[in-house]
Amino acid sequence: MHAGFAKSVKKTIPLHAVPAKELKAWLARFAYLKASGFSAREGELRLIPGREGLAAAVLGLGKNTDALALAGFSEKLPDGVYSLGEVPDFCGGSHATLAWLLGLYQFSRYKKPSKRAPKLVLPKGVDGEEISCIAENVFLARDLINTPPNDMGPGELAEAAAAVAKKHGAKFRLVSGAALEKNYPLIHAVGQGSARAPRLIELVWGNGPKVTLVGKGVCFDTGGYDLKPASGMATMKKDMGGAAVALAVAGMAMGAKLKLRLRVLIPAVENSVSGTAYRPSDVFKSRKGLTVEIGNTDAEGRLVLADALADADSESPALLIDIATLTGAARMATGMELPPFFTDDETLAADLARHAMETSDPLWRLPLWRGYESTLSSPVADLTNAPNYGHAGAITAALFLNRFVGHAKSWLHLDIAGWTDRPKPGRGLGGEANAARALYALLKERYGR
Ligand code: BES
Ligand code: MN
Ligand code: ZN
Repeated sequence: MHAGFAKSVKKTIPLHAVPAKELKAWLARFAYLKASGFSAREGELRLIPGREGLAAAVLGLGKNTDALALAGFSEKLPDGVYSLGEVPDFCGGSHATLAWLLGLYQFSRYKKPSKRAPKLVLPKGVDGEEISCIAENVFLARDLINTPPNDMGPGELAEAAAAVAKKHGAKFRLVSGAALEKNYPLIHAVGQGSARAPRLIELVWGNGPKVTLVGKGVCFDTGGYDLKPASGMATMKKDMGGAAVALAVAGMAMGAKLKLRLRVLIPAVENSVSGTAYRPSDVFKSRKGLTVEIGNTDAEGRLVLADALADADSESPALLIDIATLTGAARMATGMELPPFFTDDETLAADLARHAMETSDPLWRLPLWRGYESTLSSPVADLTNAPNYGHAGAITAALFLNRFVGHAKSWLHLDIAGWTDRPKPGRGLGGEANAARALYALLKERYGR
């Protein structure tokens, strides 16, 4: 159980959350709120003094309906033992409990964390173990993303995956060196320019329907010879965000002992510039046999994913999901906080969209528009990795990946940001496990005990 929960229940301070439309009633109830000018603005917090300490803490919600709004409490409250008071349903119960934990996150690897440790008494009917497991895995993904590239190369990412496998008794395998070059030529090609060798990370766990997660593990993306400008490179430590989310979802699914055969594949590379780096105009034969012309060394994500997807697809899984910080175009289309997803499976699309909204882990479907398929053609190879078309970059990247999938019963591609640039309750600046909670909710609904 997470340390953010209180063990003993003596005297607790109730937490009340106030939507703007209920302001009047609350001002009438607590004179202090009125006297201190409380207006139930989103995120507005008041600590109401009592005879011995605090009588209550009150948080304004404004017109917000964010399920994680109550993280506004744990982000700011002083030490003490709190309990859930009167809060609206949309942010109550298990949402409130998860929000409480998410609000306590700090990235403390290189800087002393604040010692503040407020505690919440677990609300009735909430599964504290499950909420702790969800929060711990979100934190794992954030820590992996936030860790700078000097301490998070392909080797360190593999160690992190091995630790997850060990914790849950999953089988763990690494492919590198000559075997990688022979069997996963595109992963090797992208990684060959770095002193830190590329590898394919694999984790297998459980029994039941085959569900496979593929996560983009580009530990740093310089763009290669098609070098990114400084502004574009600045946050590219997050380019292993897909891998981090895949590990987080796996951790949640294994922690909940879902009834599935889970497989995780992570192509882990660094996209560097050097005398051994791959070049624009190089042509490689992929694992699947399709040849790919390198139109742009900065479109490396789809290359490493292509070989991992071809492997994953070959055993015809019931569900194949890839998660990747794949395109800047996806950010242009829907911004940082609403990652697009792609699938031909209508039922899956509806289920995922529902879970995304219910968990406040927003996702939005974009089309796999086959009309743009021809943008992937190359004069010298089966495919180019850089479409000859200046628009719809998130869609053409998804279509590229789709060429390497054919046997999976259902395929889902998520083009995530892996990063928060405008903080929201429980989601501070920096690495973010976009889609992890929505995907876990989907898997739990389908494969839960
Ligand atoms: N990792 C980037 C995509 C990215 C950029 C994600 C910014 C999140 C924020 C990816 O490898 C990339 O560079 N993609 C190129 C593809 C292009 C060269 C076809 C892009 O989106 O510009
Ligand atoms: Mn790139
Ligand atoms: Zn990239």
